Amino acid sequence: MSRPIGKRLDEIRTLDKINILMVDDQPSKLLSYEAILSELGENLFQAGSANEALDCLLRNDVAVVLTDVDMPGLDGFELAKMIHGHPRFEDVAILFVSAARMTDADRLAGYDHGAVDYISVPIVPELLRAKVRVFSRLHRKTRELKSLYGEMGRLSNRMIAAQDDERRRIARELHDSLGQQLAFAKMAADRINVSEAREQAAEVAALIEEALRQVRSISHLLHPPMLDEIGLEYVIGWYLEGLTKRSGIETAFEVEPRPFPRLPQEMEIALYRILQEAVTNAYRHSAGRRIWVRLQLAGEQIRLAVRDDGKGVSREVSALRVGAVGVGLGGMRQRVAELGGQLRLAIAEPGTLVEVVIPSNPAHCD
Ligand SMILES: Nc1ncnc2c1ncn2[C@@H]1O[C@H](COP(=O)(O)OP(=O)(O)OP(=O)(O)O)[C@@H](O)[C@H]1O
Ligand SMILES: [Mg+2]
Repeated sequence: MSRPIGKRLDEIRTLDKINILMVDDQPSKLLSYEAILSELGENLFQAGSANEALDCLLRNDVAVVLTDVDMPGLDGFELAKMIHGHPRFEDVAILFVSAARMTDADRLAGYDHGAVDYISVPIVPELLRAKVRVFSRLHRKTRELKSLYGEMGRLSNRMIAAQDDERRRIARELHDSLGQQLAFAKMAADRINVSEAREQAAEVAALIEEALRQVRSISHLLHPPMLDEIGLEYVIGWYLEGLTKRSGIETAFEVEPRPFPRLPQEMEIALYRILQEAVTNAYRHSAGRRIWVRLQLAGEQIRLAVRDDGKGVSREVSALRVGAVGVGLGGMRQRVAELGGQLRLAIAEPGTLVEVVIPSNPAHCD
């Protein structure tokens, strides 16, 4: 049986350490590997034979195997072949320990089996630690990359789904409001007769006027044209006023300096979208009654802060943990990263504080 050292298995799973498996038929050697490697602070497992090693691999997520080449039964090369022959273990790094001087042919045999490196006896502790440390780093990087790929995949799927939702919503809105309005206008136009023409034309004109107003309001929400013309400060004010009118939520808006300077177009759009998302989140999720927004230019930094007095976010959301955030915060993080800035979500007690800091001159983040 393989024996985890110092930690029980359930504890091991909760720690962000990697598992290193040491395989040797001589217990004294296992003890000396343990003494050398313990200062790396990783989880160390021992196996007294190739079979025990396979058993341990099946039950644990092992990153590095340190194995003796000469063992009774299955030797180190055969063990390596079996490990790398299994798709689940093809990324496991294997470090061979060999007492005899190894010829090039032996080394090649090892590499054929997917081995990664060799160390010869007598072992130089620093060298062994350095090699295992490199493999551990490599394993962590691979793990991070895999998790990033996973996050990207999940995000892009959700982005696509969100885009579809958005299109559906726009289509429904156009159909239900504008479509009805125009249908009435058409019916009224069909009924026009000469004697009542003036009155009926006025009715049609009023219906068309209302339809136009709705088109403007739908397209403003999708992209406020004022943003390009009058800038962020006024559009944020307009947006917050609209929110207060529609929802009754109190909003306060602080700007510094006033008037706030114009920024490059893509920066204004990104900041506006971030604000919209943060405010929408406060409105949808916080159950609060007030929202404060502050836009500041301080030195070479632009700071946008949105705070509410609601119930606050969980620790997972505030750490922007994968799986806890949706398209909204995911998109916000993406936009902030593109501008070379930082996004922070703090539990403000009461409420949530969303803070974005970006360099005012995008050239600075290159
Ligand atoms: N101001 C807030 N107050 C309380 N909870 C919040 C707040 N902002 C975000 N959250 C929590 O964080 C979660 C993730 O937010 P995010 O904006 O990423 O996704 P979402 O709003 O659920 O969906 P969408 O993708 O449509 O934006 C929310 O579901 C909510 O539970
Ligand atoms: Mg959201």
